[in-house]
Amino acid sequence: MQVIRSISALRSWRKDAGTVAFVPTMGNLHAGHLALVAEAHRHAEKVVVSIFVNRLQFGQGEDFDAYPRTFDEDCAKLEAAGVDVLFFPDEAELYPRVRQAYNVEPPNLQNELCGAFRPGHFRGVATVVSKLFNIVEPDFACFGKKDYQQLAVIRGMVEDLNSPVVVVPVDTGRADDGLALSSRNGYLSDAERAEAPRLYRNLSLIREALIAGDSDYAALEARAVEDLTAHGWRVDYVEVRHAHTLEVAHAGEKHLVVLAAARLGRTRLIDNIEVDR
Ligand code: PAJ
Repeated sequence: MQVIRSISALRSWRKDAGTVAFVPTMGNLHAGHLALVAEAHRHAEKVVVSIFVNRLQFGQGEDFDAYPRTFDEDCAKLEAAGVDVLFFPDEAELYPRVRQAYNVEPPNLQNELCGAFRPGHFRGVATVVSKLFNIVEPDFACFGKKDYQQLAVIRGMVEDLNSPVVVVPVDTGRADDGLALSSRNGYLSDAERAEAPRLYRNLSLIREALIAGDSDYAALEARAVEDLTAHGWRVDYVEVRHAHTLEVAHAGEKHLVVLAAARLGRTRLIDNIEVDR
């Protein structure tokens, strides 16, 4: 595996690389990320992974400084997974002017769900992904459904800006007890880790009710919020939405996704579950 740190070196490698599938990450890699790499191998001759902790998508008081940086372990995992190139730029390489003057501005969706609690987050994500696409010029790019709203924003961006990249969604990797794998799980204490699967359990209960024909979304959401709150969580939201548009779902809608974000101690966890009925 080649580790490439500069944009110019990446561009010269890219010239003769053939088809490329790309997996953008912020590092601290786990089995969820590696599932994206495995999927990438199915689509193209070469696989590029990027590791860049993107300051632009972190808000004031969020965990930019604390975000785990585990370069050596990440390299070993990517090497074992048969990755061709690890693109590992520093901030000066990606943001030479410090302040990014031109940004990709997602539509209203960026102010809803996670966006309501993380102002500017999806602008930061869309902007860095757009930059990475311009640098790597991938034919395919893999994104996890774990970050469902992020996937929707990237899909919208690619469509509206005519980006020649095929977005490949990948199912959420989970621990045996259902907890969605996340770099932020490392922040959890033992007691919090034991409690954490409750988030997915609540989403699964809502899913069962929806499949059974229940369309009282507000009551289903409220019941989950109540259960989580009673067990020490601070809930940002639990919402039933239309699976494709992420708009508020009307009763009887067939393609749904239930999304949630909640805090356990200092750790903010997100998860979601798709429901086709
Ligand atoms: P990061 O959180 O490192 O995630 C990188 C990719 O891995 C994203 O597409 C994310 O959805 C996916 N992923 C994370 N956990 C997963 C899991 N349990 N199962 C499946 N996929 C999972 O998301 C980002 O980084 C950044 O916002 C980024 C897109 C790199 C832009 O900075």
